[in-house]
Amino acid sequence: MAQEEGGRLAEVRARVAASHGITDLAHKLHFYDRWAPDYDQDVATLQYRAPRLAVDCLTQALPGPPHTALILDVACGTGLVAAELQARGFLQLHGVDGSPAMLGQARARGLYQHLSLCTLGQEPLPSPEGTFDAVLMVGALSDGQVPCSAIPELLRVTKPGGLVCLTTRTNPSNLPYKEALEATLDRLEQAGVWERLVACWPPLSSRWRPAPLPGTASSPASSTCTESSRRPKLR
Ligand SMILES: C[S@@+](CC[C@H](N)C(=O)[O-])C[C@H]1O[C@@H](n2cnc3c(N)ncnc32)[C@H](O)[C@@H]1O
Repeated sequence: MAQEEGGRLAEVRARVAASHGITDLAHKLHFYDRWAPDYDQDVATLQYRAPRLAVDCLTQALPGPPHTALILDVACGTGLVAAELQARGFLQLHGVDGSPAMLGQARARGLYQHLSLCTLGQEPLPSPEGTFDAVLMVGALSDGQVPCSAIPELLRVTKPGGLVCLTTRTNPSNLPYKEALEATLDRLEQAGVWERLVACWPPLSSRWRPAPLPGTASSPASSTCTESSRRPKLR
């Protein structure tokens, strides 16, 4: 039994490592298409907590009752972020993703009012300027996924005074991307376009931790997330 679970964990870790190794966007989206039916079960095996942590962060920063807020979940995948949002009373949810099969899983969840196929970095978000009270992106800011150049597009669709909540990984292979992301965010902040409200820099072991094998101490984390909520300023 323990051997079976250990085998399953090793299989999932290998799949995630394979995904991290893909730096070409078209290949990455194709990988997600194939992963879509198993994604939720696989990330549950790894005790993936980024959706919950991001929604915690957003909930702390967002003023007003949750049911009145219009939220965009960028790179929504199968809809794990929507499940967390709905549990906190956020009911007006839109989602976009570049993988048709991941979007199919999200649609089956039945929590989004609108879902659109959109590849960030290659095309604009399908919404007018200043549409959303909050924009989230969880698990998609890394090499081969959403490029840093897409960040202004998130700001464009956020209402003045609205919130943008982002996560990225801090494992060594993602550090160059994370540095570039921070530089982009800092540049936009210095330009007065938005301001940082909250930033969480958790210790590596506390965020996305693989499930411990039965009978063993918990393993060190293979991945983690960093969140920041930024508020576009009135322009
Ligand atoms: C690790 S999953 C995260 C999904 C979901 N946010 C979650 O936390 O479970 C990354 C998602 O980003 C999407 N994605 C990656 N790069 C993208 C891009 N450039 N444009 C749109 N979606 C992208 C993938 O299709 C995939 O569904």
